[in-house]
Amino acid sequence: MALNDRFLKACRREDVDCTPVWFMRQAGRYMAEYRALRAKHTLLEICAQPELATEVTLQPVRALGVDAAILFADILLPLIPMGLDLEFAQGEGPVIHNPIGSRADVEALRRVEPHESLAHVLEAVRLVRRELDGQTPLIGFAGAPFTLASYMIEGGSSRNFIKTKRLMYSDTRTWHILMSKLGCVIADYLSAQVNAGAQAVQLFDSWVGALSPDDYREYVLPHSRFIIEQVQRTGVPLIHFGTDTAMLLPLLKEAGGDVIGLDWRVDLDRGWETIGVERAVQGNLDPVALFAPRAELERRVRRILDQAANRPGHIFNLGHGILPDTPVENVKAVVELVHEFSKR
Ligand code: CP3
Repeated sequence: MALNDRFLKACRREDVDCTPVWFMRQAGRYMAEYRALRAKHTLLEICAQPELATEVTLQPVRALGVDAAILFADILLPLIPMGLDLEFAQGEGPVIHNPIGSRADVEALRRVEPHESLAHVLEAVRLVRRELDGQTPLIGFAGAPFTLASYMIEGGSSRNFIKTKRLMYSDTRTWHILMSKLGCVIADYLSAQVNAGAQAVQLFDSWVGALSPDDYREYVLPHSRFIIEQVQRTGVPLIHFGTDTAMLLPLLKEAGGDVIGLDWRVDLDRGWETIGVERAVQGNLDPVALFAPRAELERRVRRILDQAANRPGHIFNLGHGILPDTPVENVKAVVELVHEFSKR
């Protein structure tokens, strides 16, 4: 196989032979290979053992022919060395048994030295790079401070983020101390991933769409911007992703990122226009479109590519992660359709 650099070229808005495509959550339960490994190991075990994390990272690269690999890990891993008791409970998603709420809780959070307490993740980056042998680029990632803070405060997934916003509104000073601590941890962690070999990184602010533009600007933007500025010193492209962000796009752009992720609730061309064509964009097929009949799926892929109009700087992806039970053959078909329809 030849060197495939169309993903990295698109991040830099350079010309490509066809539009690159990869998928958020491209490794996971919809793949039989993943389920087979998960039958023997917990999610945290896979993340803690670099050989297993490497194997899972490579599964979709082999099965789908995507243009980038994304390291197999979870955005919540850095919370463990910070002092949180994290568990992925069967069927419930993440649970944090000692959620935080007070100034004292925030002050007790430990600063993380990624080379010590997240060394297993960095080792997985090195192993994956060795296995990929320069052929497919590797994306590292981390959660953004708002999304991570929401898990730390709510103790798990949330619908209305009541405890998170209550802290934000009632004890703004404590909120900013928490966000600054997360900012330092995440900036160090992403930089360490780059030093270990990650060729691009994605910052996941998955739940930031719960905020109004004013709240985003005041409570979140400076902290996300700090991380992005730190990581950009490494020189690798950064993808800044959130969902439900149609009204936040100008502020996400202001916070930074070479590539801005778009979810499916915004038309790609309108979203790109809002961001400005001097940035690259990533997206934005509805993950549920992968359950549609083939002709409908094809129509939707074509529509996104038509909106992108082969302008330099489009990376095809979903608007959010692949869901369990997604038919693998449809995911594979999207890779082929994107490459075929976008040939320059
Ligand atoms: O994209 C990839 O292939 C890399 C792996 C990856 C995982 N989590 C593995 C995982 C990535 C990029 C993540 C990011 C992540 N984790 C996010 C941000 C992206 C997003 O989807 O918004 C968030 C919010 C989390 C937190 C998290 N981890 C939740 C809410 C859950 C449970 C939800 C679910 O799907 O069950 C997880 C568990 C998790 N992380 C799984 C995987 C493959 C599924 C669990 C399993 O194998 O048991």
